[in-house]
Amino acid sequence: MKLCRRATELAGYRGTVGFVPTMGALHEGHLSLVKKCRETCDTTVVSIFVNPTQFNDPKDLQNYPRTEAQDLELLAEAGVDFVFAPTVEEVYPEPDTRCFDFGGLDRIMEGEHRPGHFNGVGQVVSRLFEVVKPHKAFFGEKDFQQLAIIRYMVAQTGLPIEIVGCPIVRDRDGLARSSRNMLLSPEHRAAAPRIYAVLSEAAETLRGRVPVTEAKRIIAEQIDAEPLLKTEYVEIASAKTLSPATGWGERIGDLRCFVAVHAGPVRLIDNIAI
Ligand code: PAF
Repeated sequence: MKLCRRATELAGYRGTVGFVPTMGALHEGHLSLVKKCRETCDTTVVSIFVNPTQFNDPKDLQNYPRTEAQDLELLAEAGVDFVFAPTVEEVYPEPDTRCFDFGGLDRIMEGEHRPGHFNGVGQVVSRLFEVVKPHKAFFGEKDFQQLAIIRYMVAQTGLPIEIVGCPIVRDRDGLARSSRNMLLSPEHRAAAPRIYAVLSEAAETLRGRVPVTEAKRIIAEQIDAEPLLKTEYVEIASAKTLSPATGWGERIGDLRCFVAVHAGPVRLIDNIAI
């Protein structure tokens, strides 16, 4: 495995190049992306870069977990060929002032609650695509809205990159794997599986039985019944366009329920087909 700090060191690829962008603090979710990448590509490149432009809250950027030595061990074990772990100056030699148009996909849910977040994601992902030059790139469905936005960006710019979405990886108790989970206190970690328990129960029982607005209210109420959790939003939206649903008219599987929940100081997101 070759560790590259500079873009110019990314050389000597073989065949199809697959890319897994990450912000480090790696877990099983990331490793499932690496596995998928290795199965379908000849060269696997992983980036580790905590991108400052996508954090709308400076405290969140400061507290974001950084575990590079352990990440490099995991990636070597996983059979990765190249790790790109640049400095901020390497990625942004000049401040990035680009503003992206994501066709409105960035105005709801995460975009509405984290202003500027998706513009920062667009900046870093487009920059990483430029230097890594992959044929395929792999993203997890936990960040379902991010995946939709990146697909949109690639389609708009005509970049010849196939975007591959990969299923959410969960702990045994249902909590979606996230780098932020390691910031949870033991009490909040014990409370957090309630998010998926409520979502999976709702996916089974609410569809078609109560109006969509009522379903969202019930989901929030059931999550918030755990005193250590506080729902920021619940949305039920089209999996294709992300437009909020007003009724259950869509075919089964075409709607998803999205939530953001505060577990103390840690903000968690999750989603499920409904
Ligand atoms: O999903 C993430 O970890 C980040 O948003 C990404 C895609 C690596 C860009 O910084």
